[in-house]
Amino acid sequence: MRLQLSTWPEVEAYLNRSTGVVIPIGSTEQHGPTGLIGTDAICPETIAVGMAEEGILVAPTLSIGMAQHHLAFPGSITLRPSTLIAVIRDVVGSLASQGFTHFYFLNGHGGNIATVQAAFAELWADASLAGRASSLHLKLGNWFAGPRVTKLSRELFGEADGKHATASEVSLTWHAWPDQQRDAELVPERAPDGAIRDAAGYRATFADGRIGSEPQRASREFGSRFYEAGLADALDEYRQFAQSDDAKGK
Ligand code: NI
Repeated sequence: MRLQLSTWPEVEAYLNRSTGVVIPIGSTEQHGPTGLIGTDAICPETIAVGMAEEGILVAPTLSIGMAQHHLAFPGSITLRPSTLIAVIRDVVGSLASQGFTHFYFLNGHGGNIATVQAAFAELWADASLAGRASSLHLKLGNWFAGPRVTKLSRELFGEADGKHATASEVSLTWHAWPDQQRDAELVPERAPDGAIRDAAGYRATFADGRIGSEPQRASREFGSRFYEAGLADALDEYRQFAQSDDAKGK
């Protein structure tokens, strides 16, 4: 059940059986010479659409995340951490005002993690500082870190999957958008690894945008396997979360 393709009476009826919702969250940032700029939003959204087909309510994807370190590559867009925290607070607050209690953020971008967790702390602080109990159950799930996905990545690519513009995520985007595959010679074959700081430092250290990865190993067939693994991981994690503390949940 996708929020954007629902009517308000349908959402009202959904609330009678579940107060849980999935919010895909990603980024709009370079993914090396062959990876799509939307990769980190496309991946969790693709998996979330599969969750929606199981009857779980899925909100619109938050497609712009915290990506300041990618700004030296054209096309990348960032929200600063304080802006993303404000966005998450208002999105959660909107749905919470109607009775939603369990919010599962399905994330596609490692750079969002600290900021999403800070947003959760802000939301809980609203209740704590007012001396009342919060109704909010907030969870962050990273599609790329679930047990089945991690195992598959290790089997297929080992260390070569790297950290950014990975063969895993590029494969999944090709499963979602088979006519958007790119090919180019990548030199060196395996991108360098190292620390991330600001945008200028990132471009100086990681010349073509990749970190430690070999996305040339990606394939659409692998992407279909990552989709199945990612969907199973996310459904397991969501259902366990929704069943805790009575989201009436599924
Ligand atoms: Ni990515």
